[in-house]
Parts: sequence; C-alpha cells; structure tokens
Amino acid sequence: MLILGLESSCDETGVALIDDKKGLLAHAVHTQIDMHKLYGGVVPELASRDHIRRVIPLVEQVLKEAGKTKADLDAIAVTQGPGLAGALLVGVSVAHALAYALDIPVIGIHHMEGHLLANLLADPAPEFPFIALLVSGGHTQIMKVTKFGEYELLGDTLDDAVGEAFDKTAQLLGMAYPGGPAVSALADKGQSGAIELPRPMLHSGNLDMSFSGLKTAVLNAVNKAEDPNDETFRQNLARAFVDAVVDVLAAKVVKAMKTHHMKTLVVAGGVSANKQLRNRLVFEMRKRGMEVFFPPIKLCTDNGAMIATAGLERVKHMSEEEIAQHFKNLKFGVKPRWRLKDAAGDIRS
Ligand code: KG4
Ligand code: ZN
Repeated sequence: MLILGLESSCDETGVALIDDKKGLLAHAVHTQIDMHKLYGGVVPELASRDHIRRVIPLVEQVLKEAGKTKADLDAIAVTQGPGLAGALLVGVSVAHALAYALDIPVIGIHHMEGHLLANLLADPAPEFPFIALLVSGGHTQIMKVTKFGEYELLGDTLDDAVGEAFDKTAQLLGMAYPGGPAVSALADKGQSGAIELPRPMLHSGNLDMSFSGLKTAVLNAVNKAEDPNDETFRQNLARAFVDAVVDVLAAKVVKAMKTHHMKTLVVAGGVSANKQLRNRLVFEMRKRGMEVFFPPIKLCTDNGAMIATAGLERVKHMSEEEIAQHFKNLKFGVKPRWRLKDAAGDIRS
C-alpha cells in the first residue's frame, strides 16, 4: 500500500510517500521561515498563498524521487487540523481533488498525532504503551498513550506553548523567528546559574505547566540589564531560560511516568529537536532504568512523513468495513481547533 502524506497546517509545506512494506520512500519540505522572518512570526495569508505555490511541485518531486506515479497511490493522508484555517484548506483541497480524480480515499490526520507517530520512523521505534511529551510551537502536552489511537491528556500548558516561549525569548534576545534553535545554540555558550529564572508550576502537584511567566521574567531581566546586548549576558540569559524549561519538562514527565507506572517516554514536536532537552531526558530516564525515544532530527519539526505515517497506521488499524464506512461519511473540511482525543474518537467511530 502506497500513501501520500500532505502537511500544510502552518509555515511548512511537507509532502511524503510511505509504503507499508518498504517504509518511507521519499519526503520533501519547503519551509516559509525566510518569508515570515520579516514580520517576526507567521502571517497566515502569506502562508496559505505559499502553500498553494509549493504543494503540487512537491508532490511531483517526491513521486519522481520514489519512481512512482499518481496512479500508484492507494490513499492520501492530509493534516486536517489543528492549525491555520487557510493553510489547512490548501492541503485538504489538494488532497480531496487528487483523491477524487484518482478514486482513492482521503484520511484526515490530527497534526499532533502526526508528530507523535513520527517516532515510528526512528530505529528502533518505541512500543506501546508509553508517556508522550508533545512540545511544539502550539502545544505542550503530556499524554498517556496505551495503544494506537488511545490518547489520555494528563497535563497541558495553561498559557504559552514551550516552542512559543522559545520564540518569544529569541525575539527578546534580538534573534529572528522562529528562534528555538538559535536560543539553544546561544544557551550552549552560557553558564548555568549565572542568572536565576523561575520554574513555573514545578511544585504544582499536577502535570500542568505554564510558560508565560518565564517569558515575562526574561523580559524583566532584559529591561534590568546594564547592557542587554552584552554577549555574555545574552548567553547566560539564554542558558537560564533553557535550564528553567528543561527542569520543568523533566520533572513533569518523571512524575507522569512514576504515577502511571510507565517505562517508556516518547517525545515529539518541534522542540523535541532541542539538544539540551534531549540530553536531560536521556539522563533522567537512564538513571531510572527507563527509555526515551525521539523522532529523527529532520522529522521533529513539521513535515509530510509524519502525516503519511499516521495515515498508514490509521489504515492498518481499521477493518475493511470501518474503512468503507469512514470513507462513505467523509466530508470536506478543516478543523483549525481540534483536540487529539476527539480525533482518536473519529478514527474509531
Ligand atoms: O512542531 P513545529 O515544527 O510546529 C508546530 O507544530 O508548532 O514546532 C515549531 C517550534 C518553534 O517554536 C521552534 O522554535 C521550535 O519548535 N524549535 C525548537 C528547536 N527546533 C524547533 N525549540 C528549541 N530548540 C530547537 N532545537
Ligand atoms: Zn507541528
């Protein structure tokens, strides 16, 4: 079975081809970062227009790379939500138009399920059940994943997502959008403990988190600094920010693992590319005889391979009757706000 995956929920157009026996055959991503950089963040209308320009050439590119044609496709998996409505509409429209022309099904994928299942493309891949830490520009969630499609939300951010906090910190330190990797690189040169920042909700007793106070603390430190452009100050502040984020995330996942008697942690989303977070989680898990999995670095941020993988898993877990029923009820539409729990419900119904 050959599945085409399309991702266009934000500022990356991602396209991939996955085969149920041979795995990932080809994938390509076009990032709009350079375009949005000028504005300090994603401009939704520009994002939609750029997806329109990129998506078909990228489909043709991956088909060519894999030595396949459209006629070889068995299904199309597309990000249906959550994300920017106009951007999502591009991928979903293309998916439905192609599927209609080829007389094949469309599978609507939840973006965060895609991120989570990108881990299945790692070698070795994790096995269910596990605790998942989803850390992206829009989400910071801890989930209990008992099996495919069964996602229980254990903890969430009450305000900013961790990726968003990275991006805002980057802006305060005078660095361009999206800024996560730049803050991480700057932090590498800083000294831990030189500047103290709060660890919001570290002792809240639950698995919820909050990052907007941390961002304000970074802003206050910049405002109070004698010379906010001093390189050592910037490095130490970036270090303090990363240390605070990593401390909170590590403490929350360890608590989740212990409470739910889990031995496996799976990390996903753009921030799972972060070196300091990876190192710390590996350390914490090893110390406790637990395991941690991350997606391959290139598949941490938005891409089509994760959507193709989620589509393939979806099909694998459906009976023929369920597939027929699902496709009979298929409606065109996007879901800019969509909870993963509801998406899992959609799969099984
Ligand atoms: O998953 P993603 O590509 O898009 C969303 O679904 O939001 O995540 C993008 C986020 C951005 O906030 C970006 O700054 C952050 O992931 N990010 C990182 C790193 N790479 C990407 N944050 C910290 N360290 C990184 N290496
Ligand atoms: Zn994402």
